[in-house]
Amino acid sequence: MVAYSTDDAGIPAPHDGLSQSVGPNGPLLLQDHYLIQKLAHFDRERVPERVVHAKGGGAYGELEITEDVSQYTRAGLFQKGKKTPLLLRFSTVAGELGSADSARDPRGFALKFYTEEGNYDLVGNNTPIFFIRDPSKFPDFIHSQKRRADNQLRDNNNQWDFWTLNPESAHQVSFVMTDRGTPKNWRHMHGFGSHTFMWYNAAGEKFWVKYHFKTDQGVENLTAGEAKALEAEDPDAFRRDLWNAIEKGEYPSWTVNVQVMPFEAAADYRFNPFDLTKVWPHEDYPEITIGRFTLNRNPQNYFAELEQSAFQPSSMVPGIAASPDKMLQGRLFSYPDTQRYRIGPNFLHLPVNRPLSPVHSYNRDGAMAFHASPDPVYAPNTVGGPVADQELFTGADYHVAGEIVRSAYELHKEDDDFAQPRALWEKVLTDSERANLVGNIVGHASAPEVTADMKRRVVEYWTNVHPDLGGGVAKGLGVQG
Ligand code: NDP
Ligand code: HEM
Repeated sequence: MVAYSTDDAGIPAPHDGLSQSVGPNGPLLLQDHYLIQKLAHFDRERVPERVVHAKGGGAYGELEITEDVSQYTRAGLFQKGKKTPLLLRFSTVAGELGSADSARDPRGFALKFYTEEGNYDLVGNNTPIFFIRDPSKFPDFIHSQKRRADNQLRDNNNQWDFWTLNPESAHQVSFVMTDRGTPKNWRHMHGFGSHTFMWYNAAGEKFWVKYHFKTDQGVENLTAGEAKALEAEDPDAFRRDLWNAIEKGEYPSWTVNVQVMPFEAAADYRFNPFDLTKVWPHEDYPEITIGRFTLNRNPQNYFAELEQSAFQPSSMVPGIAASPDKMLQGRLFSYPDTQRYRIGPNFLHLPVNRPLSPVHSYNRDGAMAFHASPDPVYAPNTVGGPVADQELFTGADYHVAGEIVRSAYELHKEDDDFAQPRALWEKVLTDSERANLVGNIVGHASAPEVTADMKRRVVEYWTNVHPDLGGGVAKGLGVQG
């Protein structure tokens, strides 16, 4: 039987398509509550899109841990045999809500694990590194990527201006300019936690950790030409691909690997292990497989479950903590802050964001409060209110002391902005991948707005990575040595 339609209070709707009027041809009435609720609700359908990562899609799934890593972390979700439900949202970074999935960009890879100890969010990308290492540069970086103030056009000259003035970007720009900057779809790319995080075990021993999520579908990319063609043909191609795969029962999966560094090794590691522009080379810290996750269920309502989903790097469960990575520290503030604005102060009450575990919070009220939290409303109290279990956090503390400064990170002996992109060029890329990297850079820096002076700076930037790469870019851009 078809359900009867109602208004949002559950009252049966008087009609699905006729307003109440004074006679069939007369004006409408303010008393037609049904029409007024319908129009007023429609007027409020849009919330602000995410300031970055606006275009995306995702699905639910499950993480299963297959190895024993209790010696590194006490986190319940990482204990052998444990299965944890999750949500994964993929995205591009710079484009707006309706922009094309196949554009050259890093891809967001945001995971929410609904654990028994609260939600654990791992808000990563499909790259193991990032463009900058101080969060105060993030708004400027994004402004250089987004539309200009005057003509509302994106501007490649601005992008190269920012990148060449911030040489720590070279590693991430290298990644994004290879064909991994235009993946074939979301199923055929890796994900990374990118930052270094802390893990601590039940005995209070600490470790530094990096996450790698390796696609079981295999890495597949588009060439620049294929990606451009797909932008025009089907801007929603990746959303469609993921949805269809799951509808057909072809559930994509990722193998979960970690690199683990002993806590004490960070201080004199050959470069700063908290610098987000660098990976930890595998020869120093090999990847260890700990489990696998699968996506197996599409959302029922995109807006409720993906547009209103809210991932926060600050959502960490006992056994996991922040590292001193300055970018991570900045992100701990930024996400819940934007979500209080984008969705509202009680965004964690929404079904997609609320934990499966019980909430006994002393936070109260605010617009759209949903938790029916009983008295008492304050802590401490002598009337049986919830109390903190401090034991769960034993081991997360560490000693830090110093002058209050505005300074770059202290250099470790091998810190260098170009060594790791150079290793990518020299050790990892094949000849054809190198040729495509050169071609993609040349294509991007050949946009009409890129000035002759900027092209010289682009060549200098890439020559610092490797003379052959700089030479190829100079030739492609017609810049004389
Ligand atoms: P390795 O040779 O041990 O690792 C190279 C890594 O690069 C592998 O993880 C590989 O895994 C990945 N890779 C392979 N082809 C490409 C490609 N076309 N584009 C991007 N990544 C690719 O060397 P190191 O650990 O010493 O790292 C050397 C360089 O490799 C680094 O400077 C960095 O640029 C890059 N890299 C390193 C990673 C790390 O965590 N150490 C991770 C990713 C890249 P796969 O093919 O499965 O992606
Ligand atoms: C989204 C800020 C760096 C990955 C966002 C959002 C903000 C933001 C404000 C919108 C969130 C929302 O509306 O819900 C910042 C700041 C950064 C930073 C200030 C640096 C200081 C990074 C890095 C990564 C990353 C380094 C990856 C390693 C993501 C992802 C999303 C996102 C995946 C989309 C999450 C989703 O799907 O909802 N970022 N970001 N960001 N960011 Fe960042």
